[in-house]
Amino acid sequence: MIIHTENIRVGYGNTKLRIRPLGDIHLGHIGHDSKLFNKAVQEHANDPAGWCIITGDIIDDDRPSSRQKRVHMYSDRVDAQPFDDEQHQLWLDHKVIPVLKPLANRCLGALDGDHFRLYSDGTTSTMYICRKLKIPYLGERMAWVRMLFSTKAKGEGQRCMYLIHASHGAGSASTYGGDINALIRQVSGFEADLCIAGHTHKCMPAQIPILYPDQRGEKIREKMRTYVRTGGFLRGYLEKRTTYVEKAGYSPLALRYPVIELTLGRCKANNCSLSVEDVKVTI
Ligand SMILES: [Fe+2]
Repeated sequence: MIIHTENIRVGYGNTKLRIRPLGDIHLGHIGHDSKLFNKAVQEHANDPAGWCIITGDIIDDDRPSSRQKRVHMYSDRVDAQPFDDEQHQLWLDHKVIPVLKPLANRCLGALDGDHFRLYSDGTTSTMYICRKLKIPYLGERMAWVRMLFSTKAKGEGQRCMYLIHASHGAGSASTYGGDINALIRQVSGFEADLCIAGHTHKCMPAQIPILYPDQRGEKIREKMRTYVRTGGFLRGYLEKRTTYVEKAGYSPLALRYPVIELTLGRCKANNCSLSVEDVKVTI
């Protein structure tokens, strides 16, 4: 599991930052909604206070079963696979990386997820994309991302951390409640202020406050733990085609992406210099 630390300078007073988790993009699939994805990409590019994080399934390539088949396919002619890898990387260079390029600024990193290509040298298509875009690679399934905020003033020691547990997600739930409950259950063993996961392509937030007594033992304070399913950019039902979504009879989903807005300020209650005072999620 990768632990990535991002040092972020912020100004004095109230500062707002926005985190955009973008996952289940499925570039290359005919159902990929390029109009919505490009809107999200441009929104990020035009937001100087915006940070994005990619929660996996960037491309609609091999899933675990087809990745295994590809290994078998080349088992008796290993020397042929690098050519296949090169062709795939050329496709990434021309069709995928240019689309993702505006995300490279202020990007917290990218996970593989389920859909990615495993190359003959043991690297993945996500590693290739991350290397080309100069963004952090966060591993296959999950990572911690530590956003370390500090004020511009030197030596004053005003800093705080916002801890993100980012995962691609696993399993499925037919109801919305079951889906967010599954996320809450799956991350119960991980410390985090924000838990984000994709995979189910549903987009929804939940916030659960954790109450604690203040230092004097006089007042009740709360710490907010935020959970977000990160949505997706793949249309499940298409004209004149029968997709796997249709075959399986899955419910249609609204294509959405969430925006998590953090308000940083001085925390008077705890007498600390800098803290995340509010977290709002919009979808
Ligand atoms: Fe996906």
